[in-house]
Amino acid sequence: MKIYAVGGAIRDELLGLPVQDRDWVVVGATPETMLALGYKPVGRDFPVFLHPVTHEEYALARTERKTGPGYTGFAIHASPDVTLEQDLARRDLTINAIARDDAGRLIDPFGGIPDLQARQLRHVSAAFAEDPVRILRVARFAARFQHRFGFTVAPETLQLMQRMVDAGEVDALVAERVWTELSRGLCEPDPSVLFRVLEECHALPRLLPELVPYWTRHGAAAARSVDCAAARAAPLAVRFAAWIVPLVVPSGAGGHTLISTLGTRLRLPHAVQDLTSLACRLHAALHTRFAAGPEELLALLEAGDGLRRPQRLQDLLAVMACSENAQDTPPPASGDPLLRAQAAAATVDTAALARDASSPSAIAASIRAARLAAIGQAFSRGA
Ligand code: CTP
Repeated sequence: MKIYAVGGAIRDELLGLPVQDRDWVVVGATPETMLALGYKPVGRDFPVFLHPVTHEEYALARTERKTGPGYTGFAIHASPDVTLEQDLARRDLTINAIARDDAGRLIDPFGGIPDLQARQLRHVSAAFAEDPVRILRVARFAARFQHRFGFTVAPETLQLMQRMVDAGEVDALVAERVWTELSRGLCEPDPSVLFRVLEECHALPRLLPELVPYWTRHGAAAARSVDCAAARAAPLAVRFAAWIVPLVVPSGAGGHTLISTLGTRLRLPHAVQDLTSLACRLHAALHTRFAAGPEELLALLEAGDGLRRPQRLQDLLAVMACSENAQDTPPPASGDPLLRAQAAAATVDTAALARDASSPSAIAASIRAARLAAIGQAFSRGA
């Protein structure tokens, strides 16, 4: 039995990047050998085991053959006679198909090291086409490596991806899988590259048909906005909203129906859908906040639930800054008026007001009046 380190860890090591997860491939072993050595089996579909101490993944060398549409229709063949080269041959990209043995020697039968040097995302073999998720993976790796290292998708790989999409391959992907890859791609340093690659291989209209009418007109603004969110190291919800808002808001569509359709179909996490809807709905009011008075600022804080959820207010403002391309314009020296209003409103002692109110029904009105006064005072002082 021989054990090799494979996949993303070797790729990242050779690029000089920190390695997150290590994957191993085991050649010449059976599941029984692994169990006898104390490895714990995981999953039902693949012959994968966890190391008893490190908990890293050890997979028996395997070949895969497609037996049906989508990414689930695979016949897996794992047996002690499957070679390392056969296992590497079933992998997606040459840069992900490099192995290292226990003496530290690199094994690279498909030219992954030259492709790392040439900055090419190139498929290993025609078997790439057997797994449509790989289209999203390539787009995601481009979003990770393009600007930082200059990687591009090899022309023949892009053509293969186009043929796969044109043959309807991505239509079979389930929503969870699409969202998992899209969300990971959105969290890369240059998320606009994800969408550009998906557009270039014709996958974007298949994956996100709802957005077709918008990105031909506003795609460039959306690309700038989502990259701005990434440059701020913003969380996923902000990045998604920063991509959607410039697409949808200028058309006057409001976005609510569209986002709920998209949310249901892709099973978007609630926080992502919620922030995106809210940013679309409040966009016009947020846009005019610099000229707003205390009453409008308080109304905005209430609409965004900004007093109870200060982080969400920060997220909304980040979406605004990016979607309006305002990152080059420094905020006023006095700070964002909405944050000033929030800070002023937060000074109100709501417990004391509740105690002193003449009746329970008067509490809300008295708190609101006190917050309005506090905001008014803050602005008359600092104006
Ligand atoms: N792989 C593949 N096709 C897929 C998924 C994975 O060929 N659809 C192979 C690749 O060789 C990949 C390895 O399995 O390197 C491990 O997959 P995974 O952990 O998902 O990706 P990484 O390449 O490690 O990338 P990341 O840094 O995003 O985890």
